Amino acid sequence: MKKLFIKTYGCQMNVYDSARMAELLAPIGFCPSDTLDDADMVILNTCHIREKAAEKIYSELGRLRQQKEKRKLTIAVAGCVAQAEGAEIIARAPQVDIVVGPQSYHRLPEMIARIARSGGQALETEFPALEKFDALPNDASPGGVSAFLTVQEGCDKFCSFCVVPYTRGPEYSRTVAQIEAEAVRLVARGAKELTLLGQNVNAYRGEGPDGKTWSLADLLGRLANIDGLARLRYMTSHPRDMSDDLIAAHRDLAQLMPFLHLPAQSGSDSVLRAMNRGHSVAEYRRTIDRIRAARPDIALSSDFIVGFPGESDADFAATLALVRDVGFAQAYSFKYSRRPGTPAAAARKQIPDGVKEARLQELQTALGEQRAAFDTNSVGRVLEVLFEKAGRRAGQAIGRSPYLQAVHVENAAAHIGAIGRVHIDAVFPNSLKGRLVAEHEKAMRH
Ligand code: 5AD
Ligand code: SF4
Repeated sequence: MKKLFIKTYGCQMNVYDSARMAELLAPIGFCPSDTLDDADMVILNTCHIREKAAEKIYSELGRLRQQKEKRKLTIAVAGCVAQAEGAEIIARAPQVDIVVGPQSYHRLPEMIARIARSGGQALETEFPALEKFDALPNDASPGGVSAFLTVQEGCDKFCSFCVVPYTRGPEYSRTVAQIEAEAVRLVARGAKELTLLGQNVNAYRGEGPDGKTWSLADLLGRLANIDGLARLRYMTSHPRDMSDDLIAAHRDLAQLMPFLHLPAQSGSDSVLRAMNRGHSVAEYRRTIDRIRAARPDIALSSDFIVGFPGESDADFAATLALVRDVGFAQAYSFKYSRRPGTPAAAARKQIPDGVKEARLQELQTALGEQRAAFDTNSVGRVLEVLFEKAGRRAGQAIGRSPYLQAVHVENAAAHIGAIGRVHIDAVFPNSLKGRLVAEHEKAMRH
């Protein structure tokens, strides 16, 4: 067996893709290794969202070249940097054997065989999305109590700051039958929770078993019938695609967890317009109201960008006002960073880094307070926790609440893989601590 080391950057979809690549290469003699030291092949599964992503990959490739001078090593670059840089990588980094975009992974075995036979470098960055899922192996991703399942890929929205429409290609949805078959296999291998993934997951429009086009709500309803599947989640959603049937599913489907990641990006209409988000702040607020009417306890999450070109103090104040009014359980926030090739990168009114930094600090402070408030509100309550893995301490188990909060519990290792009722005792910056209800009651009696 040859050893394969995959280094994964970026989002959950990359984590999922890395697992699928590992499976794809197993039949041709590669077993996964968690170190580069003795690997025969290394795949960098890259992400292009953050600043200087490509530069970081080139310096990583510089280090790999030194390894390759000492021993035989096949080097592949996959993911969104591969898609965006393609031929540039081939030209700049001759030590790279394979460059493969996110929609061409299924060609990896063939590419490996080709370079083994005739040497040289191989490049595949087409978007034959229809082929990819058909060609990937059927025994699906690694087991695990909480598993990811890609249902949709790509994006047609073209937000002016974002590379995804260029790197992941157009929106494409897998069929309900394909997804259901993979879900059943994951549950058979121990999954109790599935998170449906997609760059625009709520824009899902896949072919149903009746030949009609099904929505994400239809798909969730179908998957909720799988025996043994306790929880369903999905991400990432776009505010424009928060349809009535999906909101109703949050009211009607017991398995659908009360958590929604719905990036707002900004609280200013003029910034949203320049971002090409396709909705106003009032529409975002209305969407939140509709969701809360259907599911009052829902935990809301978001992404924000500060310092988008042209963002004034008043625009930024509007973002803070939106945050204050909505109340987020958690959120991510980023300084705007220029992505070559995207419209916003060419905008004239770029914001100085000092201003971006100050705004980011202020926003993160506000979001941190909201998160602490949301978490503190859980103290003294009993939450259902799906235990996923052992903690650092003996007997400790770590799981997630319905609201996606990490919860650690002593003397709970026996519950891993199951849902336990947990009395929440304390809040930490990134997690909650609690006791199984039986233990809590025992302590109360003494
Ligand atoms: N600059 C800063 N943040 C960005 N994001 C995407 N592109 C950029 C960029 N050029 C953020 C958005 C998106 C999240 C995944 O990353 O907030 O929702
Ligand atoms: Fe990027 Fe906008 Fe598409 Fe999200 S919706 S992937 S931010 S272009």
